[in-house]
Amino acid sequence: MNISEQAQEHMKQIHLADEAVSAASDKAKSDEYRLQYHVMPPAGWMNDPNGLVHFKGEYHLFYQHHPYSDKWGPMHWGHAVSKDLVHWHHLPIALAPTEPYELGETGGYGCWSGSAIEHEGELTLFYTGHVDGRQPVEVQCAASSVDGIVFRKHPSPVLPNSPDEENVGFRDPKVWCHEGTWYMVIGSGKAGKGKALLYRSEDLEKWEYMGVTAESDGTQGDMWECPDLFPLGGGHALILSPMNMEGAKNLYMTGEMDYAAGQFTPQVVAKLDHGPDFYAAQTLLDDQGRRILIAWMDRWGSSMVNESRGWYGAMTLPRELLLKPDGTLAQVPVPELEKLRGNSESVSGMLLEGGQTASWKTEDSQGFEWIAEFDCADNAAYQLDITLLASEDGSEATVITYIPKESKLILDCNRSGRGEVQRSEAILPASSGEPLKLHVFVDRCSIEVFVNDGDVVFTSRIYPAVMSGGLQIKPEGGAVILQSLNIWSLNRI
Ligand code: FRU
Repeated sequence: MNISEQAQEHMKQIHLADEAVSAASDKAKSDEYRLQYHVMPPAGWMNDPNGLVHFKGEYHLFYQHHPYSDKWGPMHWGHAVSKDLVHWHHLPIALAPTEPYELGETGGYGCWSGSAIEHEGELTLFYTGHVDGRQPVEVQCAASSVDGIVFRKHPSPVLPNSPDEENVGFRDPKVWCHEGTWYMVIGSGKAGKGKALLYRSEDLEKWEYMGVTAESDGTQGDMWECPDLFPLGGGHALILSPMNMEGAKNLYMTGEMDYAAGQFTPQVVAKLDHGPDFYAAQTLLDDQGRRILIAWMDRWGSSMVNESRGWYGAMTLPRELLLKPDGTLAQVPVPELEKLRGNSESVSGMLLEGGQTASWKTEDSQGFEWIAEFDCADNAAYQLDITLLASEDGSEATVITYIPKESKLILDCNRSGRGEVQRSEAILPASSGEPLKLHVFVDRCSIEVFVNDGDVVFTSRIYPAVMSGGLQIKPEGGAVILQSLNIWSLNRI
């Protein structure tokens, strides 16, 4: 195919895919589990956020998308934009598989994950062309656009081969610019160790392989999906989604990047999010210099994948990433989200006796937010339970527990409703202490818990049968002081 035939075929496939989404969207939109203020596909399947970028005054969020069903399949890039990271507007699909290195016989093919950059007024997407059974299975491709809506694929892959035939996986390119040179990090693995491969380029076309910039220590997964390496607060951070790692589905590493040697040296390694439904996180740098992170608020293998609701998948709320002096990362929901706030209630300076339950209700039980600060330091409470989404008969509830002596937080979703049982735990970093601050967002079938300004975060999907707003607070074994509590009903976007 010559270039214009290629472009025409791409336009045709995008048009067909958009029509399929629009035909299915009425059914999808009336589903009882639609979220109120998180990004979801209008219809069809969604996984990883892709191509996060701030371009010409708008935030662009592309995503892994199967427009033809609510199951994963041949991957397209869905596309949504926002001026404020809160209100999102869906645009036509940006990428559809059309090339030999994107099209296959089975479902295992398409335009897989990647990133976006702005250069000389153009928006360029870098992504992986993947075809199961083809040799090579994965290549890195590019597509550019002037208006940020219609993308022209480059005539051939920018990286047609993995640097090492023994690598398993060669995908999810993330591109950024450092001191006038372009860098690309790609997810891979070899001999049981996940790896991040580094390339550099002067012109975004010819890419030179610099080597493995970081790799698993042997316990951090055998293939690293969706690596993202970026400067933050004077150092660098690498975030990744390890495959087959015991006990973690996401990791971050903070440390030093030596660009000349192509080596990233991690100093602190920890989980980004302690909940079960956080994967393939990606970041962007905005015009205010903020490093904003969005992840897929789901996971591979969730039992809800087998439901046929006409749509599947959602993104986390956007969070600003901050590097703390001890090298740990904090994630703070962006302040723009305050625009969602509706009716509120607040309380301050209240002594809560051990064994007694204090309750508050919200007007809207589908979407709400609250922030509570507790002083547990001089009191005898050995445990603080905060119960959300409790059904009248008590059979359903989602419980956040704090154990002050151990600095331990637990998010217990074992009785949250449908779906698998899920209980997650985390210990606060040593630098994070009293008072305890909890900032929680509930949206129809999700909960995001930010502890002490994002020092620890839990993200979980929950599927309660009945939504009940508000919360119940119960200290055990002694009193705590509720320094302040603010609860808001949140508007839908
Ligand atoms: C991560 C991932 C990526 C891949 C994409 C395919 O969730 O497996 O590695 O590019 O999803 O949809």
